[in-house]
Order: sequence, then structure tokens, then C-alpha cells
Amino acid sequence: MSNPSLLILAGDGIGPEVMAEVTKIIGWFGARRGVTFDVSEDLVGGCAYDKHGTPLHDDTMARAQEVDAVLLGAVGGPKYDSLDFSVKPERGLLRLRKEMDLFANLRPAQCFDALADFSSLKREVVAGLDIMIVRELTSGIYFGEPRGIFTEGNERVGINTQRYTESEIDRVARAAFELARKRGNKVCSMEKANVMESGILWREVVQRVHDTDYPDVELSHMYADAGAMQLCRWPKQFDVIVTDNLFGDLLSDAAAMLTGSLGMLPSASLGAPMANGRPKALYEPVHGSAPDIAGQGKANPIACILSFAMALRYSFDMGEDATRVEKAVEKVLADGVRTADLLGEEGAVPVSTAQMGDAVVAALDASL
Ligand code: IPM
Ligand code: MG
Repeated sequence: MSNPSLLILAGDGIGPEVMAEVTKIIGWFGARRGVTFDVSEDLVGGCAYDKHGTPLHDDTMARAQEVDAVLLGAVGGPKYDSLDFSVKPERGLLRLRKEMDLFANLRPAQCFDALADFSSLKREVVAGLDIMIVRELTSGIYFGEPRGIFTEGNERVGINTQRYTESEIDRVARAAFELARKRGNKVCSMEKANVMESGILWREVVQRVHDTDYPDVELSHMYADAGAMQLCRWPKQFDVIVTDNLFGDLLSDAAAMLTGSLGMLPSASLGAPMANGRPKALYEPVHGSAPDIAGQGKANPIACILSFAMALRYSFDMGEDATRVEKAVEKVLADGVRTADLLGEEGAVPVSTAQMGDAVVAALDASL
């Protein structure tokens, strides 16, 4: 069999710095675990725009469709703020999600014990937290038509459309139920069925999928605004949350903050199985390109490293090795190794991005 293939799109801002640490881990798997990945690299976002005049070149798009998994760093930066909407860095990422049909975005929010005091919430509220947000990623208001800025009479009107088909809701609901069965066996679905027809349909279809094929999983429904409140009040009541594209965007940022730092959270975006049985997949940290600290070696590479761990689990059937990477991260944090975003006490000295990556590699070595 040929080696598993990876396309690395490091992107903009801190993307290349954090991805360099993932490359170390990939190298470690080749040297120490005998698993060699065929790695290719390309551009996405602002750097692709600078070179090609588009945030995602067609050749890159085609390559992303062929590989076993895409690893993405981050896109965007102030340099690109004034670009036309159609070529903004974010459009490159959205095109990847849409054309690869990555409908299930898995965003775990796990609180590492060593960081429980970093959350803005009390330790007892977040310690041991382990929830999974499943965000629909290819539809809803992000992509619905009609959309645009139009002229009506003597003023302009901005329009976006929330739109969900039954099959789009059905498939993401199934992804959530499947995941729940391997975790706490609970799903909470969030929408606004009290004000949106798309929310009424969402609730109906999720309930139907449950009753037909997943009656063993505990299902509840919540309005998304109440869900946001409950996430801050007592997040440990949740196991898997399934929600639409826009609510998922908001709720996952909120959930991220529960864990203490946005610099910690990975994500997986999964589509339908390919011919080789692996799902179409893209892995990326939840954080953005952090232009304010880019190029200074200050960024926390853990979210990107944990995204690679998710790739091991969901694309390469290497669940034990995924856990090995996660445990290595846990150990490093328990040992007190901290990048600047994780430093509370005054006078404490942060490690650099590269030192954090090296510490994880050392912990991996120790795990053998
Ligand atoms: C995310 C980001 C993206 C989104 C942006 C960068 C397009 O916020 O992945 O959560 O809105 O989906
Ligand atoms: Mg977001």
C-alpha cells in the first residue's frame, strides 16, 4: 500500500510557525513509529492571493481532493482587509469546505487539568470538561442564496439566506449520533425553532433520525441562545452538541474560551468516505492567524498539533497514536511548559513556539 498522503496548507500569520511544529511530529512518526506520510505543501489564503491573485488556486483545490487529509494552519490578516470580498483569504478556506463537501465539523472542547485555572469560569465549572461540538459546515447562512448587497429604492440592502435541506440536516445529525455512541451517548441539538422555519425543520429531522436509527442515544433540543447561556453556566451537562453553521461558529468560540485558551483547540472537518474508505477530511486549529504575534515565535502550536492527532484518529485509523500525541501534550502542560498565551503568574517565562513543539516531541519519545 502507498504511504498515507497529507497536503499541508500552512496559510497566513502564525499558520506557518505552528505548522512547523506539526512537521516535527510528522517526522517523529516516520523515525520512531515507522509511519511515513507523503507530505506536500501549498498555499491558501492571503499568501495564495499574493502569488496567484486568488486565495485558493484551482490546482491546490484539485490536490486537496486527492489526498487522504489536508492540514491547514490559518488564513487572513490586516494586509488583506481591503481586498474585494470574493478574493479575501477566508474565501479560500470556505471553498475548500464547500467543494470537499466537509459537512461535519468536529470541535472538541476539552479542559486540560493543568489549565483549569486559566478559564474565565471557576475551576469546578470547567475541570474535566470534555464536550464535542458538531457544526454543520457546508450550508446554512454561510452559503445560502440569494445573497449579496442590492439596491432597493434609494438605499442598499444586505442579504444572506439561511437554508437547510432535510438531507443536509440528516447527515450531520447522523455524524453527531455516531460520535455520541463512542463518548457519553448524549446529543443536544441547538437551533432557533421559535423564530426560524429552518430551525423547525432542523429539530424535526434530528428527532426523526434519532427515533429511526439512534433511539439508544439520549437526545435533547435547546434554543441556541439558551444553549449559549447553558454552556457558560454548566458546560459539563453536555456531551455532543449538534448545530448549524452559524450557531456552531459562535458556540464553538464560546466553548473554546471555557478551556482557557483558544490556542489549545483543534478541529476536524469531515465529509463522505472516499474510494479508499477514508472520509474526505481537513484538519485545522480553531484559532485564527493572530497577525499581532505572527513571526515572533510566540504562538502556541498545541491546537495545530492536536489537529494532527485528530487526523491520526479520523483519517488514518491510528486512534492509539492520536491518544499518544494528546497524552504527550497533557504531560508537557502538567510539567509547566507554557507558551505566552498560557502564562498567568507575573515574571513567569514563556517558551517559544519551537520549544513547545520540541517538548511535545520529547514527551512522545518518553512514551515509547
Ligand atoms: C471558523 C472561522 C471561519 C468561519 C472564518 C475564518 C471563515 O471563524 O472556522 O470558525 O467563520 O467559519
Ligand atoms: Mg469561527
